[in-house]
Amino acid sequence: MEKLTILLVGSGGREHALAWKIAQSPLCGRLVAAPGNPGIETVAELRPVKATDADGLVALAQEIGADLVVVGPESALEVGLADKLATVGIPCFGGSQRAAQLETSKAFTKDFCQRHGLPTAAYGVFENAASAGAFLDTLQAPFVIKADGLAAGKGVVIAATRAEADAAVVDMLGGRFGSAGARVVIEEFMHGEEASLFAVCDGKTAVLFGAAQDHKRAYDGDEGPNTGGMGTYSPPPVLTQDLIDQAWRELILPTVEGMAAEGHPYVGVLYAGLMLTPTGPKLVEYNARFGDPECQTLMLRLQSDIVPILLAAAKGELASVAPPQWRDEAAICVVLAAEGYPDAPKTGGVITGAEGSFDQAVIFHAGTSRDAQGRLVASGGRVLNVCALGATLAEARESAYGALSRIGLPGGFHRRDIGWRALQRV
Ligand code: AMP
Ligand code: GLY
Repeated sequence: MEKLTILLVGSGGREHALAWKIAQSPLCGRLVAAPGNPGIETVAELRPVKATDADGLVALAQEIGADLVVVGPESALEVGLADKLATVGIPCFGGSQRAAQLETSKAFTKDFCQRHGLPTAAYGVFENAASAGAFLDTLQAPFVIKADGLAAGKGVVIAATRAEADAAVVDMLGGRFGSAGARVVIEEFMHGEEASLFAVCDGKTAVLFGAAQDHKRAYDGDEGPNTGGMGTYSPPPVLTQDLIDQAWRELILPTVEGMAAEGHPYVGVLYAGLMLTPTGPKLVEYNARFGDPECQTLMLRLQSDIVPILLAAAKGELASVAPPQWRDEAAICVVLAAEGYPDAPKTGGVITGAEGSFDQAVIFHAGTSRDAQGRLVASGGRVLNVCALGATLAEARESAYGALSRIGLPGGFHRRDIGWRALQRV
């Protein structure tokens, strides 16, 4: 097979992990990333085009003669990158703007779940506080209030009391999240442990693409504010094969079939945030992309070449490729965050010790950049992902924390208990 030119869109830890894996493929002739980061630059050429500049990305894909575009973040899907690439005939691993509504609109997804009988929390969608209040009257605490649109993972309030719930509704409808909060979704609270399940889809077919467990709270013991994710491990033992089969049957397959039947075939990653309730897995949310930092652990564990899978999904030919093979090892990812993350991360701190080679760990860059002197500095809330494989999760964890202890970032912090739920089960 001729070598491929691949354009990767995005600039986070997820995209560094994808770039690392794609660059190992014998099929990858040239890898270009836009806009990328200093870690991605070690395996790809960088071009300064933003993930939300769909026209700029299409022009770049044409200029380099891309055989495949791989989209990392949902923000590129939301501006219609996949749709625009389709009009110029460039295969894109990532969904259309309409298909990506499974992530970009919570109301769309909840309505979709209802139409197709998918297991999820009972809910209502409201545009004013009076009708929201009437629905809250029918529920018991805690209450779950969500801004309808994308709010960078911050548009969800779990209110312990009715007063807090009412305040959250007023806050969101009052414009705290801009147009993302023009409508609010109120949900029944689901009890259980959460896990992330991934499927790769080509519009008609889906293949299982691993599972992971995230740690969303900023501090040890699942305390502190919600974040984009402070660390992950894979596979999560709580998500047994039986539960995966059930989620596949009751959620993933009907979703892929339902999206096709409704005229927006689903292409790319379907990431199901699951709540493992006493009555089985229920959907918390869908995302139209890999999780970040879940992807980092999946890439470490993926044994197969990723490129044929991404290309087949983009071309609607997934049924013709072998299913992915996984290493029989555990993977962990620990996020090093900047001081003040998630509320007000302090950027500009100089990072030390992250660029050497590590025997037992792999470092994926997230919010890093170079300063005028060429030093590696923090430029975002989540700065680095320190990742490792091990025969057991405990071994992987030891390797990751060992590597982390050699990395410096003034004021930076990380959780010390990534993987605790799985380790407690043993
Ligand atoms: P989301 O952005 O929809 O994933 O919500 C963020 C977090 O809020 C989830 O990871 C859950 O921990 C929690 N959450 C959201 N919806 C519910 C629900 N209906 N019941 C319980 N917890 C929820
Ligand atoms: N780590 C959670 C997410 O990517 O949405």
